[in-house]
Amino acid sequence: TAAPFVKIVEVGPRDGLQNEPTPISVATKVELINRLSETGLKCIESGSFVSPKWVPQMAGTSDVLRGIHRMPGISYPVLVPNMRGLEMLEAILLEHPEEPVTEEIAIFTAASEVFNKKNINCSIAESLDRFAPVVEEALKGNLRVRGYVSTVVVCPYEGAIEPERVRDITTKLLEMGCYEVSLGDTIGAATPKSMEKLLNCITAAVPVDVLATHNHDTYGMAVSNVLTALKMGVRTVDSSVAGLGGCPYAPGATGNVATEDLVYALQEEGYETGVDLNHLSGIGQWISSILKRDNSSRVGKAWLAR
Ligand code: HMG
Ligand code: MG
Repeated sequence: TAAPFVKIVEVGPRDGLQNEPTPISVATKVELINRLSETGLKCIESGSFVSPKWVPQMAGTSDVLRGIHRMPGISYPVLVPNMRGLEMLEAILLEHPEEPVTEEIAIFTAASEVFNKKNINCSIAESLDRFAPVVEEALKGNLRVRGYVSTVVVCPYEGAIEPERVRDITTKLLEMGCYEVSLGDTIGAATPKSMEKLLNCITAAVPVDVLATHNHDTYGMAVSNVLTALKMGVRTVDSSVAGLGGCPYAPGATGNVATEDLVYALQEEGYETGVDLNHLSGIGQWISSILKRDNSSRVGKAWLAR
């Protein structure tokens, strides 16, 4: 029988870069996305239309979208926190209506009130009220909408989060029109046991194929957590090349599970990803050197040193 396919959502150009301390040029972001487009990845999150006062690194997203070489069969979603962000995207879409720069947006809220307030400056209920017209307008404009829930296991401010809270917000995002909800372990504190508990609770309410996982690797548990989710039927996983990433409003959190680590684990465990690990490892090393950081992907380093 064919190996089960796992869709990887590469979040490096967004989650990976949003928390970098030094400015990154539009040209570098465009080059990163263009290089990633050649690896076999099918979804590359490419920026955010958020307030530049809140997240300065995402300020050039309009120019990034204008600059990338879009490849057929790849989607390039962007984060949108409110109507203002959607309007900014719509303005770019109007420049070339025959050739849309993206077909997908992502909205984002959290299972923790304190984190949500720090991240998007409103309560969870307010965020859902704010997103409803954004989703409606996006769907009318033929944009698909993905939802994120952050702090699904532990919040850096509130501590442990009850899975029922995540389940209820996930259900609301799906009812609103999101085609998928990505479950964010924002500070990477989940373990296989807490992932299992979370997914058992949510899949009692919604089908597993509308769920994705978004595991940060702060505690080094991310690959184990992803494999747990896959055993439970999840088939969409977020990751970041070279393990880049972090959220400005989650102090101490490090990057996402490295895409290189994920691809290696998946191929060895008998899943199909369509992603070329050689190519990807080279990109991870390249972007790490541009950012003057150590490559955070253990697999990437090992693969290049073979
Ligand atoms: P606010 O200050 O409450 O909003 O921020 P406001 O409506 O009062 O506007 C304040 C200023 O921002 C105004 O400008 C607006 O025009 C402007 P001023 O009049 O002061 O010059 N503004 C905007 N500018 C550009 N684009 C916009 C926009 N909206 C307002 N869309 C807001 C509320 C949501 C805007 C703000 O809190 C924000 O931008 N937050 C984004 C935070 C963020 O991007 N966090 C990281 C992504 S989430 C994440 O990383 C987690 C995830 O990876 C999953 C996981 O790991 O858990 C997804
Ligand atoms: Mg994240």
